[in-house]
Amino acid sequence: MKRDAFLLPRGIYLDGNSLGPLSYAARAAIERRMNQWQVYGVNAWEEWFTLAERLSPALAKLIGAHPDEVITTGGITSNLHALLATFYKPQGTRRHLLATSLDFPSDLYALQAWAERMDAELRLIPSRDGFTLDHDDIVESLTEEIALAWLPTVLYSSGQLLDVATITAWAKQRGIVIGWDAAHSIGALPHELHADEVDFAVWCSYKYLCAGPGAPGGLFIHRRHHHLKPGLPGWWGHEKKTQFAMRSAFTKAAGAPAYQISTPSILALAGLEGALAIFEEIGIDQVRARSLELTEYLIANIDEKLPECSVRTPRAAGERGGHVALEHPEADRLSQALRERDIVPDFRPPSVVRLAPVALYNTEDELDRTVEVLRQLLDAGDYRREQTTRLVT
Ligand SMILES: Cc1ncc(COP(=O)(O)O)c(C=O)c1O
Repeated sequence: MKRDAFLLPRGIYLDGNSLGPLSYAARAAIERRMNQWQVYGVNAWEEWFTLAERLSPALAKLIGAHPDEVITTGGITSNLHALLATFYKPQGTRRHLLATSLDFPSDLYALQAWAERMDAELRLIPSRDGFTLDHDDIVESLTEEIALAWLPTVLYSSGQLLDVATITAWAKQRGIVIGWDAAHSIGALPHELHADEVDFAVWCSYKYLCAGPGAPGGLFIHRRHHHLKPGLPGWWGHEKKTQFAMRSAFTKAAGAPAYQISTPSILALAGLEGALAIFEEIGIDQVRARSLELTEYLIANIDEKLPECSVRTPRAAGERGGHVALEHPEADRLSQALRERDIVPDFRPPSVVRLAPVALYNTEDELDRTVEVLRQLLDAGDYRREQTTRLVT
C-alpha cells in the first residue's frame, strides 16, 4: 500500500505491532528538527513549543475525537498513572478497579498500585480459554462495586478486538468510569472514542503508528471531563500563554494538553510528526480494509498449511485487530528459528507467535513465504536443534 515509503529492515518484517519500521517521512522530520537544534539552539523552542498540540488534528482523526480531546505525551503506563490520579475516586462501596486477566502486565502494575493506595481491590475479568474474553463475563464483572474499569481495545497477545461502543455503554449505564488502552488498535483500525462517550484512553505510537522506538504515547480525555484538574500536574500542562510567567500556581491548559507533565522530547515527537503524514495521506479506513484482507489471508493460509498450529485470534473481522496469534507448544523456538531466517515475528509466553501483516507495507507474498518456512521448520523439526545450539553457545 505504501511500502515504498518505508526503509524496511532486511527480510520479512512482521513485528510492526511491537515496533513499527522507519519511514522516509519520519527520518526526514527527525533530521529537520535536529538541524533546527544545531542552527538555532534554544531559540528553536519558539517553533517547538506547541509541536505536540500541532499533531493533535491528525491524531484526533485516528482515534475519533476532537483535536482538543487528544495530546501526544508520556507513555502508556505513565499516562495511565496520571489518568488514574484524575479519574479514580472511590466512594463508599463503589471503590474497586476492574481490568482483565489478559491485560499487558505494565497496566496491571499501575492498577494494582492504585488499588492498594485506595485500600481497594483490583478485580480481573476472567478468560475462559486463556486467549480471549467473553462479552458475558465482561458485562457480569461491571458491578456497582466497580469505580473504574480499564480494558484493552485489542488484546496484546491474541489480537481480539473488543466492542468499545457496547462495553462503554454498559459501563455508563452502571455509573462506572471507563478507560481504554488503545496500544494495539491505534493506526490499525478506526475508533470513535468521542461518539462512544469513552471517558479516557491512552496509546503508544511506536507500534502501528511507526513513530520510532520509545516515541511519546498519547491520551484522550472526553470533552465532558475538560473541567477536571489533572491529578498529576506539571508545567508542560500549564496554560501556554503564561507558562513562562513562572507563577507558583498551576493554571491548566484547555482540554487534553493539560495532562502533559514534562518537557517533551522534540526529536521523538518529530518521528510521529513524519509518520502521521502517511496516515493523513491514506486514511485509516483504507488501512483497516487492507489490514483485514491481510489477516484473513494469513489465517486461511495457516488453517490450510499448518494444521498443528491453532489460530487464537477471533476469525470474525469485527473481532480482530491487526495481528494474528498462532499457538504452538514450541512457539518460542519457532519464533527464534524464523528470526534466524530473516522473518521477524515475536513471541508471547507461553505459546503464542504473533504475526502482524501491516497494511502499509506487508504483502501476500511475504505471508506465503512465512507460512512456507514455518511448514519446513515443522516438517524438519529443525527449530528444536537450533534452540539447543543457541542455548549452549
Ligand atoms: C497493550 C500495552 N499496554 C501497555 C504497554 C506499555 O507501554 P509503555 O511502555 O508505553 O508504558 C504496552 C507495550 O507494548 C502494550 O502493548
